[in-house]
Amino acid sequence: MIIAVPKETAPGETRVALTPDAAKRLVGKGLTVRVERGAGTAAGFLDDAYAAVGCELAADRAPVFGADVVLTVQPPAEPTALREGVVTIGILQPFTNPAVVRALAGRRVTSFSLDLLPRITRAQSMDVLSSMSTVAGYKAVLLGATALGKFFPMLMTAAGTVAPARVFVLGAGVAGLQAIATARRLGAVVEAFDVRPAVKEQVESLGAKFVAADVSDLASEGEGGYAKEMSEEQHRRELELIHARLKDTDVVITTALIPGKPAPVLITEEMVRAMKPGSVIVDLAAEMGGNCALTAKGKEIVQHGVTIIGRTNLAATTPQHASQMYARNLSAFLDLLVSKEGTLTLNFEDEIIKDTCITHDGRIVHDRVRQVVEGGGA
Ligand code: NAI
Repeated sequence: MIIAVPKETAPGETRVALTPDAAKRLVGKGLTVRVERGAGTAAGFLDDAYAAVGCELAADRAPVFGADVVLTVQPPAEPTALREGVVTIGILQPFTNPAVVRALAGRRVTSFSLDLLPRITRAQSMDVLSSMSTVAGYKAVLLGATALGKFFPMLMTAAGTVAPARVFVLGAGVAGLQAIATARRLGAVVEAFDVRPAVKEQVESLGAKFVAADVSDLASEGEGGYAKEMSEEQHRRELELIHARLKDTDVVITTALIPGKPAPVLITEEMVRAMKPGSVIVDLAAEMGGNCALTAKGKEIVQHGVTIIGRTNLAATTPQHASQMYARNLSAFLDLLVSKEGTLTLNFEDEIIKDTCITHDGRIVHDRVRQVVEGGGA
C-alpha cells in the first residue's frame, strides 16, 4: 500500500501532514511512503530527512495523487486530480468547503475530515483540533506580548519597579487554557472567563483568576462538553462583566467559539473605546467572524488606540511542532484504518471512522455535511 504526502498549496500554509519521524514508523510497518519533493521544507523537514528513513521522493504531484492513501493538512488543492477511489485524510472543514466535498464525492474518493472527530477518550491521540488549538493559544500570547508596549513580568530594577501586564482570556477551552499557561509563564497577571462553569477549576489550577462572581446562572454547556448559544439576557450580562474587566486589561485573548455557528461578539466597539490606549486584542475567533466587533479577518489593525490582531491559521506560524503534533494525530488515526498485514480496512461500525468519513463510494455519507452541502442548512 502506498501512502502519499503532497506539498500543501493553500496561501500561508507551512505545515506538512507527515514528518520524517512519523513516516519512519509507517515504513517500518512495511508501507511505502511517497512524499512530494519540498513538502516538508517550510516546516523545517528537508527531502533528505524523508529519504533517510526510506521514503520515496516524487518530483511532482501526479504520482502522489495516484497513491492509495493521500495525507493532507488542508483540503486537497485539486480534488479532481486525485485517483478515483483513493482515500484522503486531512482537515477538510467540510461545512465551509462544500465545493471540495462535492468534488471528492464526484471522484469516488473516500475522504476523512479529522476536524469532525468525536471528543471521546479513545480519540484523544488523534485530536487535531486540540493539537492546533494548543499551538494557536501559545502563539496568541506571544503575538500579544510583542504588540504590547510593556513587559509581561513584574520587574524590580534600579530604574524602579515595573508592574506586570494584565491579561484577560475569554473562552477557556484548549486554546484558552494554553494561552493562560503561556501568559503565566511570562509573568503576567491572568484572568479568564468562560460560559462553561466546569472550566473554573482548570483556570485556577493554572494560576489564573476565574472572573464570574456567580457562574451558575450563566452556565451554557451543551452537547459533548462544548458551549451552546446563550439567551439574550445571559449575553447581556456577560458583556457587562467583560466591559468592567477590560478597562484594566493590557492584552485580551479571545477564543470563544460555538461549533457550527458564527463566533459570539463579546467585545463591542464601545468596549474597545473604553480600553487603555496601547492595549492589545488577539482574536483567535477571527476565522469564524471574530469575538471583537472590529476584528478584520487576517489583519492587524489599530482602532481607538487599541491593536486588534485578527490573524488566522496561527498553527502555520509554528510549523515544525504543529506538523509534529498533526503527524502523530494522523498516525494514530491511520492505525485504525490499516491492518497489521498492511491492508486498508474501513470499519464503519466504529464511531471514529463513521463520524469523520465525509464521502465514500461516490456519495456524501456524513448526514450533517450532506444537509449543508445539498443546501438544507446545518
Ligand atoms: P471551542 O474551540 O469550541 O470553544 C472555545 C471555548 O470558548 C470553549 O471553552 C467555550 O466554552 C467557550 N465559549 C463559547 N462561547 C462563549 C462565550 N459566549 N463566552 C465565553 N466563552 C465562550 O472549544 P474546545 O477548546 O475545542 O473545547 C471544547 C470542550 O471539549 C472542552 O470542554 C474541552 O475540555 C473538551 N475536549 C475534550 C476532548 C476529549 O475528551 N477528547 C479533547 C479536547 C477537548
